[in-house]
Amino acid sequence: MNCVVWIDSLEFKKELEFIAKDLNIDLVTKYPEYGSIISYDKSGLYFVNDVNSPADILHVDFLTGSMGWRLKRSDHESLLKKTLGKSKNCLTIFDGTAGFLSDALIFLSLGHKVIACEQSKILYFLVENACDRAKEELPFLSNLNLIHGNSFEVYKDQNNIDAIYLDPLYPETKKHILRAGNIHAIKNILKIEKIDDMADTLFTKFKKLQYKKIILKRPIKGKKICNNINYQIKGKSTRFDVYI
Ligand SMILES: C[S@@+](CC[C@H](N)C(=O)[O-])C[C@H]1O[C@@H](n2cnc3c(N)ncnc32)[C@H](O)[C@@H]1O
Repeated sequence: MNCVVWIDSLEFKKELEFIAKDLNIDLVTKYPEYGSIISYDKSGLYFVNDVNSPADILHVDFLTGSMGWRLKRSDHESLLKKTLGKSKNCLTIFDGTAGFLSDALIFLSLGHKVIACEQSKILYFLVENACDRAKEELPFLSNLNLIHGNSFEVYKDQNNIDAIYLDPLYPETKKHILRAGNIHAIKNILKIEKIDDMADTLFTKFKKLQYKKIILKRPIKGKKICNNINYQIKGKSTRFDVYI
């Protein structure tokens, strides 16, 4: 792994030692000359993909920026709300592609329970740290179970899931500029961890399991992965294919 954990300040030594051990990567006190780093500052855990472009820093934060804005007005998230249907009950949603947890947070803020699974350990640590920092302000985080692992395997141990939500990586195009920054970061992290994303096969694998509902997020013009879609919710750049 061309990535090290860099100890900038002794204040966060314990946390960083734990992460380095868990990721099985070196812990250094001297800022490296090349590669990627994971470190801590006062705003929390962060990742820099290329130490020679330190401005390209990835901090996951749910309280500010676009995520903070979306959460303040989650009632306006009509597309995601429609994918869940009209039921007023609290649902249990299995998010098999947690990423930065943006979609899962909307489900949580709408009053549902979410089990979110992420295959990248680096992303898992960044998101877990963001949850920890935000838990006072976002009490609905107590309805989240964040798991590191392959969602296809993790799902097999779950019971009473009302909906499986899948948002596999799709190719960057000019039309997806808003997502592109984040997607680029995720792709770099997966490369560092040598994770073969297999985005195309994830849905097909889930489709063969027992489920009540699968919600598959796709680019608006993306080809159908499977023909028997029950209904579609369409936005400007995104489409949700729902299978019941
Ligand atoms: C496009 S991102 C998801 C973004 C997320 N919906 C959000 O709102 O931030 C896809 C994520 O799914 C993860 N992923 C893909 N296949 C997975 C699998 N089989 N198990 C767990 N995570 C997976 C990838 O590592 C990546 O972080």
